[in-house]
Amino acid sequence: MAPTILVVGATGNTGRGVVDTLPELVRNSKTLGQHRILALTRSASSASAKEIEKLGVELAEQNWVEIDHNWLREHEVNRIFIASHNEPNQFAEESQFYNETLRAGVEYVVRVSTTAANVRPDYPAYYPRTHWAIEQMLGQPEFEALKWTSLQPNVFSTFILGPAAEFIKEHRKTGKQGTLGLMLSADSPVGIIQPTEIGVVAAHLLAQEDVTKHNKAKLVLNGPEDITGEQVVKMVESYVGEPVKDVKFKDVSGIEMWADSQTTQSKNIIRSITYAPVTAWEGKCKASTTSKDVLEIAAPQVTPAQVMKNLLGE
Ligand SMILES: NC(=O)c1ccc[n+]([C@@H]2O[C@H](COP(=O)([O-])OP(=O)(O)OC[C@H]3O[C@@H](n4cnc5c(N)ncnc54)[C@H](OP(=O)(O)O)[C@@H]3O)[C@@H](O)[C@H]2O)c1
Repeated sequence: MAPTILVVGATGNTGRGVVDTLPELVRNSKTLGQHRILALTRSASSASAKEIEKLGVELAEQNWVEIDHNWLREHEVNRIFIASHNEPNQFAEESQFYNETLRAGVEYVVRVSTTAANVRPDYPAYYPRTHWAIEQMLGQPEFEALKWTSLQPNVFSTFILGPAAEFIKEHRKTGKQGTLGLMLSADSPVGIIQPTEIGVVAAHLLAQEDVTKHNKAKLVLNGPEDITGEQVVKMVESYVGEPVKDVKFKDVSGIEMWADSQTTQSKNIIRSITYAPVTAWEGKCKASTTSKDVLEIAAPQVTPAQVMKNLLGE
């Protein structure tokens, strides 16, 4: 066994950027050279888990919500990346994890939070309040021994541009247009971010010799460029070669349908997610809000146009 950097959520949107970036940083580190990187998944046979094994990290089939302090000690974990799910039980499961982490004597955690403008106790959507509560908990004196950095990324570009990419694919297949539903408003600029770039910043933080510099920091991450809903429409039109006939901006109908179909979770809690984009519509989530430290560590570079190309497999 060797001292270990644990990657929780390695198969996901942001974790993939960590496992792509961290091995080389560790290999070149004066102080972390002996560390191994242990990536977790609930299913080692999944396609994304198999890809990760090729990247020079070890893989363990382990659901992170069941990890306790004994497991962390046995695996000699001293630094952790975590991209937690944000389901309604997030606070119980993520705060349990930090309790176990504290007991195990782990040195440093880098976690993924959510859009900075939303992380407040009175936000109408439920999960930014959960992220706020987790950050408050970690900031208490009882957690002093655990160093941490919370990354507050803007909405993921893959998520925002996904429906536009599907619209283009459908048009290529059938020559027909459906409704283009976009979560963005027509004219508010938003600094949407490619999620793997959040993982890149996390990897650099985890590979620091001295983790005190960004201890207790809440870092704001956006992509390099703003985009508005109108600009997404123009982008789509440049691919389909004709005007888009039917556009719905501020489209949260998918979340409403998801809420209505709930059988186990509260419909009210799930419907609250429709408020998540409100700060973006208010112009509070622009690329210019990115933290200076993020620009110095690993400035996000992937533009919305590049994300669209990737989504279309070009
Ligand atoms: N979507 C956005 O636009 C956005 C924007 C800002 C912030 N965020 C925040 O990003 C965080 C999530 O990060 P992410 O998108 O990188 O993660 P993710 O891709 O949703 O999940 C990471 C991995 O966690 C495992 N996982 C998923 N649900 C789980 C569960 N209920 N219990 C245990 N393991 C589970 C899965 O791995 P295996 O199946 O391999 O186990 C998954 O690949 C959330 O807290 C969210 O608030 C999202």
